[in-house]
Amino acid sequence: MTESLRFLMCSPDHYEVDYVINPWMEGNIHKSSRDRAVEQWQGLYHLIQKRAIVDLVTPAVGWPDMVFTANAGLVLGDRVVLSRFLHRERQGEEPYFKAWFASNGFTVYELPKELPFEGAGDALFDREGRWLWAGYGFRSELDAHAYLSDWLDIEVLSLRLVDERFYHLDTCFCPLSNGYLLYYPPAFDAYSNRLIELRVPVEKRIIVAEADADVFACNSVNLGSIIIMNRASTNLTQQLNALGFEVWETPLTEFLKAGGAAKCLTLRVTEPVPTGRELGLQSMIENRTVLLEGHLLDSGLINRALDLIVEGGGSFQVLNFELGEQRQSTSRAEVKVSAPSHDLMEEILSQLIGLGAIPSTREVCDIHLAVVNQMGVAPEDFYVTTIYPTEIRINCEWVRVTNQRMDAAIVVHSTPTGSIAECKLLRDLVVGEQVAVGVEGIRSVRNPESRDQRHTQEFSFMGAGVSSERRVELVVEQIAWDLRHIRDRGGKVAVVAGPVVIHTGGGLHLSQLIRDGYVQALLGGNAIAVHDIEQSMMGTSLGVDMKRGVSVRGGHRHHLKAINTIRRWGGIRQAVAQGVLNSGIFYECICRGVPFALAGSIRDDGPLPDTQMDLLQAQADYSRLIQGSDLILMLSSMLHSIGVGNMTPAGVKMVCVDINPAVVTKLADRGSVESVGVVTDVGLFLSLLVRQLERLTHPLKAG
Ligand code: ARG
Repeated sequence: MTESLRFLMCSPDHYEVDYVINPWMEGNIHKSSRDRAVEQWQGLYHLIQKRAIVDLVTPAVGWPDMVFTANAGLVLGDRVVLSRFLHRERQGEEPYFKAWFASNGFTVYELPKELPFEGAGDALFDREGRWLWAGYGFRSELDAHAYLSDWLDIEVLSLRLVDERFYHLDTCFCPLSNGYLLYYPPAFDAYSNRLIELRVPVEKRIIVAEADADVFACNSVNLGSIIIMNRASTNLTQQLNALGFEVWETPLTEFLKAGGAAKCLTLRVTEPVPTGRELGLQSMIENRTVLLEGHLLDSGLINRALDLIVEGGGSFQVLNFELGEQRQSTSRAEVKVSAPSHDLMEEILSQLIGLGAIPSTREVCDIHLAVVNQMGVAPEDFYVTTIYPTEIRINCEWVRVTNQRMDAAIVVHSTPTGSIAECKLLRDLVVGEQVAVGVEGIRSVRNPESRDQRHTQEFSFMGAGVSSERRVELVVEQIAWDLRHIRDRGGKVAVVAGPVVIHTGGGLHLSQLIRDGYVQALLGGNAIAVHDIEQSMMGTSLGVDMKRGVSVRGGHRHHLKAINTIRRWGGIRQAVAQGVLNSGIFYECICRGVPFALAGSIRDDGPLPDTQMDLLQAQADYSRLIQGSDLILMLSSMLHSIGVGNMTPAGVKMVCVDINPAVVTKLADRGSVESVGVVTDVGLFLSLLVRQLERLTHPLKAG
């Protein structure tokens, strides 16, 4: 090897768009012209030759993408990490490149099989030699980055690609001399953008507009102050000129059809080994192994866990998967999680813990605690709770957290008999309290019996038009059984209801459920109460005659009249006592001693004296009323149902009924067996439910 600058290229003798392995190739099969490709390739070749020596590797028949020598491997000094192509369509290029490197005096490093990495297409040196930027997300695996850092002895900064048009790092990212960086930020996830911004000062970042990115402006060859690219807008050229760069455009449209341009067609084979580098900061990649157990396949748990890792910016390797043999036996998976930084690892792990995963590595440590030093504010990095039973490890013992709910912090108190832990809302945190931080020493317990999600998925698609009434009936039948059973053993059912219950004629049925002792608590807002009372007093709901379904002249006033009447008497209970209100949902509640809580909102008319306009108090009231519920029936109120969902621990069965499938999915998708979503008209649902309950009570009469 010489001291001069050298590039490796491969002439396009056999170049062709023969298959589709990236979005640019779509619709371009056999659409490129060989003659034009040769001419364009030579244009580039001559430009590079003005400043560097170009070595050539012999093109091989049957491997049309071999022209893209950037993907041959990653060179540093006299070492090369050979590519392991993700797609079969390119794997055949590997031996040709390997032979070229070997015969040119390089030490060739080969990654384990099944660990894709596409060379300099996905790994670009900072031109000052400070570190290596490495891409992952489409063609290369994050785990390969650890090898790069080890073999090439350089710090690796991993960047996650998220736009499939920019599937290789060099399609959207180009480090330039003097520490400049030409790049297209939307091609990266938020974390990667943050990392770039941390390492490259703002005055060195040259952000490329989408129009330039689309013609591969980032896929440039940088030789000192010269930047060779397919095409640049006037804007970009001016910007680069102002920074002292000269842009050499050379058309490469034939290669764009395969998803490559100037940089892809070249591989710099003289990469100086950086000197004076800070040692120790090799790679920020972290690895942890976690264990998952349960009905991993049936419940979709394994998919959710793996998706979560990838969405969180990490990558995974399933080390062991023991599939439960029988339907009732559980499966077990050991998964190695890699994340590009400690912070991301913690983030991913805390979510995996929420899914019931247990970090399996080394000895498990005790929980880390930090002190609250501002009222109502948790320490940085506090563990955010989920609905699932959680345990934390204190002095080598697992302690169950009490008051389990989601979106809270875990507070640890020491008592003479040991430590206790409880979930606490941020606003309730007191200065001096100890709060769990990080993810060490925390586990959440999932019931391995639960086959999870099934119901949710099964019933949600009714909204998509494939539902049959028979299916709704089947769910209703099941719910009726549950209600009956809970009532008969003295259990508790809480109902969350929105005003739609009244508009759809369900008021009658809900009243009956309360009268028959199926409801032990009622939660709603101002509106359901006002509509119920309006209907009871005037036969209309928001001015619509509930019997005939038509608006009554001047009916909209009914609404305010109803509010006013209740206000005059001082509240619902007083109105019932005076005989002013003598039917309806709230009348039944008062008569049966069923407690209710009405949470106010900004749009409330009135409100009724019973509506709690202090929202923190309303949350506390809700939370008190749902304590100890066996089942919560959520009837067409997204707002109040989500509120309730947030404060309910796992293990409480939830039934969510709404005509809007999105609402049902949002609410019922608690990832647990206990939620059932029913997409249907709530009035219809209630009438079916009442009928079904009657059938259970009087099997002969109701037929
Ligand atoms: N068709 C090739 C592929 O999809 C294009 C490779 C472009 N190379 C690059 N370094 N971006 O693999």
